[in-house]
Amino acid sequence: MTRFEGKSVVVTGAGSGFGEATAKRFASEGGRVVVADINAAGAERVAAEIAGAGGTAQAVVVDVADEKAVMGMVECAVDAFGALDVLVNNAGYSHLNKLLWKISVEDFDAVYAVNVRGVFLGCKHTIPLMIERGGGAIVNIASIGAVAPRPGVTPYNATKGAVLTLTKGLSLEVARHNIRVNAVNPVAADTDFMKGATGRDELSDEMRANLVSTIPRGRLAEPADVAAAVTFLASADADFITGTAINVDGGRSV
Ligand SMILES: NC(=O)c1ccc[n+]([C@@H]2O[C@H](COP(=O)([O-])OP(=O)(O)OC[C@H]3O[C@@H](n4cnc5c(N)ncnc54)[C@H](O)[C@@H]3O)[C@@H](O)[C@H]2O)c1
Repeated sequence: MTRFEGKSVVVTGAGSGFGEATAKRFASEGGRVVVADINAAGAERVAAEIAGAGGTAQAVVVDVADEKAVMGMVECAVDAFGALDVLVNNAGYSHLNKLLWKISVEDFDAVYAVNVRGVFLGCKHTIPLMIERGGGAIVNIASIGAVAPRPGVTPYNATKGAVLTLTKGLSLEVARHNIRVNAVNPVAADTDFMKGATGRDELSDEMRANLVSTIPRGRLAEPADVAAAVTFLASADADFITGTAINVDGGRSV
């Protein structure tokens, strides 16, 4: 399939997990991908693997909470590939799993800076280019926790709720410019994200079993599940779909 032949795609947080799988999926379908991450080694590894598989990719180091860095990332996409057609705001993380009243103000502010301001900045600096080009697609990675929250991750889930509301409101502002804005709500996956949320290097068997027991399909999400939904929403097949979110949750929120 070559759904993204000639398209320039920026994926943030593409140095691992969902972002890595998504960047590789775009590249495997002809997209020219900016692999953007705060982790330089991760971004460079993924860009090199894409190139090794015959695709086109450019690694960029960015902190999505930093406006100048985001402007640099967008500039880099335009310099490298002449345009920016698709933006995937995927970079994000969670504070350690704790009850709300045990979370510090610093941890609260830090998670909002990446998960909410990061999405705002990505959209803010991409949309004028998409308007000028006559269209584009933005996909924001939220979380099933925004729709069906569980205890222990309340500020994190609230950041993802903000992302869903931003997605809906922005979709109305840009619809007439042929720009679509959608979101994906993944359920738990065993990516590096879990290290930050659990404070452990690996999920214990008990933690994994507890998570799986809440998912009717009987397994955690895989990065490929998220990549499939993101690329669908970014593709011409989703031309009439905007302002919505796909739950990639194995039925967890039903
Ligand atoms: N894994 C899950 O259970 C899960 C579930 C629902 C939603 N999500 C969301 O999915 C997205 C991707 O997470 P993942 O599971 O692939 O985790 P991950 O840790 O494997 O990937 C996240 C990537 O984002 C990068 N990143 C973090 N802060 C950044 C910043 N300030 N600027 C640029 N890059 C930054 C990290 O270096 C990392 O490469 C996140 O937005 C996360 O909130 C994850």
